[in-house]
Amino acid sequence: MNVSTRVLELSETIPDFPKPGIVFRDLTPAFADPETFRAIVDELGADVTGGFDVVAGIEARGFLLASAIAYATRTRLFPIRKQGKLPGDVLSEDYALEYGAASLEVNPSNLPQGSRVLIVDDVLATGGSCRAAARLVERSGSTVAGIGIVLALDGLGGVDALRDYDVSVLLTEP
Ligand code: ADE
Repeated sequence: MNVSTRVLELSETIPDFPKPGIVFRDLTPAFADPETFRAIVDELGADVTGGFDVVAGIEARGFLLASAIAYATRTRLFPIRKQGKLPGDVLSEDYALEYGAASLEVNPSNLPQGSRVLIVDDVLATGGSCRAAARLVERSGSTVAGIGIVLALDGLGGVDALRDYDVSVLLTEP
């Protein structure tokens, strides 16, 4: 069975979480299944045109993916964090998300200039957080080699919002 079918089978849909009107897609059971998690990690880390030398995870669920990909591919790990978590001279980007607004931050001293960065996250909704993450990588003096997503929610404009980037999605769902 291929990885997208397995993710679909294992993922759960929770209406009205974290706010009324939001249909939340929870991939925790897919990440918890050892073979499915390994397949996700292998697929997201494969086929990035031109390769990558850093993998960046968006807090928090993107961290789970990024650390495993960094380990499996022996590449450098770069955390893209929620506001107020990183010390030092950080760069910040505000963005709108499906259920509110938020900011992401990086410390560019943790990213060698000129790196080719693969950004990963579990779910793509409006694309706001991935766009902010991509901007932070670029403002840090590096290039976005690709964006790897497990599940893209159709109809929220996420793939279109990331049209300037090489986006790889394992599964698209209404
Ligand atoms: N992130 C943004 N929107 C989401 C949703 N509907 N389900 C899971 N994660 C999300």
